[in-house]
Amino acid sequence: MKISLIAARAENDVIGNGAEIPWRARGEQLIFKAFTFNRWLLVGRKTFESMGKLPDRRFAVVSGSGFRCEDEDVACFASVEEALGWLSKQTDEVMVAGGGQIYRQCIERADVLHLTRIHAAPEGDISFPAIPASFQRVFTQSFNSNTNYSYELWLPSQAD
Ligand SMILES: NC(=O)c1ccc[n+]([C@@H]2O[C@H](COP(=O)([O-])OP(=O)(O)OC[C@H]3O[C@@H](n4cnc5c(N)ncnc54)[C@H](OP(=O)(O)O)[C@@H]3O)[C@@H](O)[C@H]2O)c1
Repeated sequence: MKISLIAARAENDVIGNGAEIPWRARGEQLIFKAFTFNRWLLVGRKTFESMGKLPDRRFAVVSGSGFRCEDEDVACFASVEEALGWLSKQTDEVMVAGGGQIYRQCIERADVLHLTRIHAAPEGDISFPAIPASFQRVFTQSFNSNTNYSYELWLPSQAD
């Protein structure tokens, strides 16, 4: 199963403030919508509770506190390992969609990073982890909006 990670982070690597995303960049969410459409999303319990269940997506939610959701499009797991093991039998690609704790646990094993850089530096208490040196940015596309942003595609470097 391909593990794709998708996130938007500010210039200061902030991705969240409390339960909220601390910016409004018009158009930026279209990137998330396009990449996650009809896909399984792997999320932490806090992100799931904050973003809610989005249509046309299925959710694997990780929680150590026994969080449960009675919904045919939502599956709950006690660990990231358990979730990935189960997902690998359901799909050929999972989109790791946050938040900070889940990105931290999954970034080393991701096959691709879809990262949006928001060109602002808002205050926040949740940050994106350092990108492992094994990744390189292979594509960038800039977008002009009320707050400008850039989409970046990162892939593992080719072995020599
Ligand atoms: N900018 C972006 O692209 C983006 C995307 C997504 C989210 N966000 C933001 O990120 C923030 C939330 O991130 P967060 O780091 O606070 O929380 P999170 O990663 O969304 O969820 C954390 C929760 O996941 C569960 N969990 C994590 N690792 C686990 C493990 N190994 N085993 C069992 N359960 C585990 C725990 O749930 P229990 O407490 O139930 O045990 C934990 O409290 C919010 O501000 C949100 O808006 C930003």
